[in-house]
Amino acid sequence: MALTAHSTIGDWLNDPTGGPLIRGLFEQTGADPELLTPVLGLPLQQLVAMSQGQLPQSVVDDLVRAANGGEIPEDTNTEGWTETPTSGRFAGKTVIVTGAASGIGKATASRIAREGGRVIAADISAEKLDAFKAELPGIVTVAGDLTQQDAIDAVIAAAGDTIDGLANIAGINDDFSPAGETTDAVWDRVIAINLTAPFKLMRAVLPIMEKASRGAILNVSSEAGLRGNASGNAYTASKHGIIGVTKSAAFMYGPKGIRVNSVAPGGVATGIPMPPNMSEYGSGRLAPFQQAIPTVATAEHLAASITFLLSDDAVNINGAVLTSDGGWSVQ
Ligand SMILES: NC(=O)c1ccc[n+]([C@@H]2O[C@H](COP(=O)([O-])OP(=O)(O)OC[C@H]3O[C@@H](n4cnc5c(N)ncnc54)[C@H](O)[C@@H]3O)[C@@H](O)[C@H]2O)c1
Repeated sequence: MALTAHSTIGDWLNDPTGGPLIRGLFEQTGADPELLTPVLGLPLQQLVAMSQGQLPQSVVDDLVRAANGGEIPEDTNTEGWTETPTSGRFAGKTVIVTGAASGIGKATASRIAREGGRVIAADISAEKLDAFKAELPGIVTVAGDLTQQDAIDAVIAAAGDTIDGLANIAGINDDFSPAGETTDAVWDRVIAINLTAPFKLMRAVLPIMEKASRGAILNVSSEAGLRGNASGNAYTASKHGIIGVTKSAAFMYGPKGIRVNSVAPGGVATGIPMPPNMSEYGSGRLAPFQQAIPTVATAEHLAASITFLLSDDAVNINGAVLTSDGGWSVQ
């Protein structure tokens, strides 16, 4: 079968033509091909998302051409999971999605919009939001730093009088530092983005949902919300905290017709940035456990879990923490 953008990275590396092309690309950029080990099962196309814009679509297209005598062959590779939107699942619903310019947030916002929802896409990156709007002109975009109250106010104003759903997805990594090394700057920023901003958005939408006696909120946690060996001190605290906020609100607002749930992703190939000065001690302690990740998912895999919990199909689910991690958490 011809190598295409949907062939796995593993298939490319094992192919006598594809392997040298991929290794050559890594040599050119100075990146270590070992970085590909956890993502061998993902499609080559995923490199574009994982590189967060460093590797444009044209590079993937050029690789496919180079492997196929200068032509891009018809893509008949239908192996594996493909996203299957449910037509009209979010019809008539207004859903706020944060972190919507990239990765899991973008995949979630896109799926909700393609399933008929009115999406309020919020993110700190105006440039990436503009690019997203060019792809899906129906979405409403709001650019702003969600650690600032004026950005939260702008999101609520853009949504209007009815808000059916809120997906708190925006987040950042920490520097893997243990508590004894965590700086005030890392602690304050990680807690502000990963925990305080989602809480403030919830606080803003809850009275609106209460009035309507309905609504669904989804807060993204992490494997690091379930245990101590998946990230550093600040990120682990923020992702445990978001589960606490989820459970409290689920308990308090369940009787009012509002469902509040969380998804805990494992490894996802989005290219979420790491900060510049990673803790050497923390990175060393975490490495063996990160190598044990059974599978790395795509942003679309996570959007499938998130949109399920936001949709009416999750009618009886409130206060749940859904691990969407290929089984990492049972190890
Ligand atoms: N990628 C993973 O392996 C993984 C694993 C577990 C949990 N998560 C969680 O999933 C969520 C999404 O991560 P992702 O992998 O899609 O990362 P990503 O970097 O692709 O997307 C995160 C988005 O949040 C936005 N953002 C950051 N700070 C913001 C702020 N102050 N205000 C508004 N927007 C802001 C960024 O601009 C970005 O578009 C995060 O909460 C992350 O902690 C990711």
